[in-house]
Amino acid sequence: MRKQVAIITGASGGIGSTRLVLRENIDEIWAIARNREKLDALKKDFGDKIIAISQDLGDADAMRSLADMLRTENPVVAYLINNAGVWLDHTSGDILSGHQDYDAIFEQFNVNAVGAIRVIEALVQPLLKGFDKLVANISSEAGSIDGNSKPDQLGYCMSKAAMNMMSCCVLYAIRPKGGMVLNFHPGWMQSVIGGPAGPDGPFVELPRVEDVKFYVTPAQSAEGIMKVLDEPERFSGKNPGFVNYRGDRMQY
Ligand SMILES: NC(=O)c1ccc[n+]([C@@H]2O[C@H](COP(=O)([O-])OP(=O)(O)OC[C@H]3O[C@@H](n4cnc5c(N)ncnc54)[C@H](OP(=O)(O)O)[C@@H]3O)[C@@H](O)[C@H]2O)c1
Repeated sequence: MRKQVAIITGASGGIGSTRLVLRENIDEIWAIARNREKLDALKKDFGDKIIAISQDLGDADAMRSLADMLRTENPVVAYLINNAGVWLDHTSGDILSGHQDYDAIFEQFNVNAVGAIRVIEALVQPLLKGFDKLVANISSEAGSIDGNSKPDQLGYCMSKAAMNMMSCCVLYAIRPKGGMVLNFHPGWMQSVIGGPAGPDGPFVELPRVEDVKFYVTPAQSAEGIMKVLDEPERFSGKNPGFVNYRGDRMQY
């Protein structure tokens, strides 16, 4: 029988290194990120189900080896979690600041949006032969035109808005074949991107409020996202569902 694999990018840290994709029925988790050592360390925590794939999603050629691996091993791809991301707007400021960091803008676009396309392209055919046929893109409230208030994070916000549109284009292409795409805001998490502490100091879980900028641990976020992925149909509609880790729908 062909093995079932789930693929997750950004698996070397933050939300990607939690138990996010460890479902019982999955034989292997193909964990993608650049840092080989951190990926190998996942095996200590999660066992031999982890297959470490050290690749830079910003590199246009990098996903060819994933495509080769898929051809050789011919697994059933159950689902993909496109989670890798970078936040590089450290010094840019808003448009009035006069010093946009264009390298940072391009790199965020390249990894957060284009990198996710590279992964999907490499595995879309085997994915559509699987059971779930599900792509989960870890986007951000930063990509929501309705909900955004980050004028000093042009590059990051643009990259996540691009990811949201990419989700739409991919959904329209794969839905006729049974495919599904969801976009997530994972909450404001303690991680390299989210930082070690919330706006008010050390970690506190904020009460449920209308505002989506909660401060959570990666594990809490992962747990919420997996609950949504257990019943993705509930969130699918004309457009890819845009959902936060608590299962609340978000506006594009
Ligand atoms: N943290 C938050 O508050 C927050 C809020 C909203 C949305 N998000 C989104 O949630 C996702 C996960 O964030 P996180 O906070 O868990 O981030 P994190 O701790 O910084 O982890 C990011 C992951 O992405 C990988 N990555 C970065 N650049 C890569 C590249 N070029 N090629 C391959 N892998 C790459 C990193 O691994 P290597 O360095 O080993 O490559 C790492 O595993 C991201 O897409 C982020 O934008 C986070």
